[in-house]
Amino acid sequence: MPANKKLLILPGDGIGPEVMAQTRRVIEWMARRRMVSFDISEDLVGGAAIDARGTPITDETMQAAKDTDAILFGSVGGPKWDKLGFDMRPEIAILRLRKELDLFANLRPATVLDPLVDASTLKPEVVRGLDLMIVRESTGGVYFGTPRGVETLPDGQQRGFDTESYTTSEIERVARVGFELARKRGKRVTSVEKANVMQSGLFWRQTVTALHARDYADVQLSHMYADNCAMQLVRNPRQFDVIVTSNIFGDLLSDLASMLTGSLGMLPSATLGAVQPNGKRHALYEPIHGSAPDIAGKGVANPLAQMLSFAMLLRYSFDMEEDARLIETAATAVLAKGLRTADLASPGATPVGTVAMGDALLAELDRVAG
Ligand code: IPM
Ligand code: MG
Repeated sequence: MPANKKLLILPGDGIGPEVMAQTRRVIEWMARRRMVSFDISEDLVGGAAIDARGTPITDETMQAAKDTDAILFGSVGGPKWDKLGFDMRPEIAILRLRKELDLFANLRPATVLDPLVDASTLKPEVVRGLDLMIVRESTGGVYFGTPRGVETLPDGQQRGFDTESYTTSEIERVARVGFELARKRGKRVTSVEKANVMQSGLFWRQTVTALHARDYADVQLSHMYADNCAMQLVRNPRQFDVIVTSNIFGDLLSDLASMLTGSLGMLPSATLGAVQPNGKRHALYEPIHGSAPDIAGKGVANPLAQMLSFAMLLRYSFDMEEDARLIETAATAVLAKGLRTADLASPGATPVGTVAMGDALLAELDRVAG
């Protein structure tokens, strides 16, 4: 018997624990019906860890994260912890995980499922069938660049500063992830930066261009300034297949792209590290929606993004395409039946709660698995 797959679950704050509880039911279903069992451990992160242990993530949790096969992350943060010092924010938990596990490629899909085409604020004909993937660099750029800080100038006023910087290898490795993904999809990559105003942006463009010529000439590459990309995403999002961009631009553009689909409550993400000599790679999976403190504890959150993050985990960490598809098919089927949580509800429709959505998903899993 091969060793069980190790899974570290970090529900975090806000709606994280609620949507994770429903996802646990999917994991149990997988064990029961598909004979895939996981060695599961669960731990505190973010505000929950600050309250219990005085730090957003302990060294022990970091070690467990390094030792596991895959991390299923909920979300962190909330008003309760907003006044803490810069290094004590709940967000430090996710930033530290990304940095110390070298999770450099953040994959953020934006897909419009047919039953939800009317949930978008854009016209159905603009978003129908949308399927784009943002590959956001996630361990470099202005998020981590030095020098950074606040200094006092000779004239007595203060100056706050951060540094955007990218090395050749940092750009190449994330661009490779984008090119490889594009090969399995629409074979088109748009590399996004501000080469017109930033040195690091021009360098990004040149580096991606050289890599493309060297190794990925079969993929169609185009370049776009980040501001234009924001505009194009709203004007005609279906022109894109894979977008590869820096940490900060990816942060902005992925929020924008997620709203093209009408619901943040639907979108999963994966953050991957490099494949190591033993064939394994660190990987973390989380919904895009964040901790949503305004609806936390009310039982109304949409658990689908967390469940779809688990589907991505099956696909990318364990190569379990068929099982991943089961969850995705069940999610689409539930929506096709008209079930909606509040984030998706159309005027007049009665939204279902978190647990009811979990019930429906499980029933649909039973059905699609036959
Ligand atoms: C995200 C979030 C994080 C980020 C925060 C919570 C640090 O906005 O994952 O997009 O800025 O990367
Ligand atoms: Mg963000």
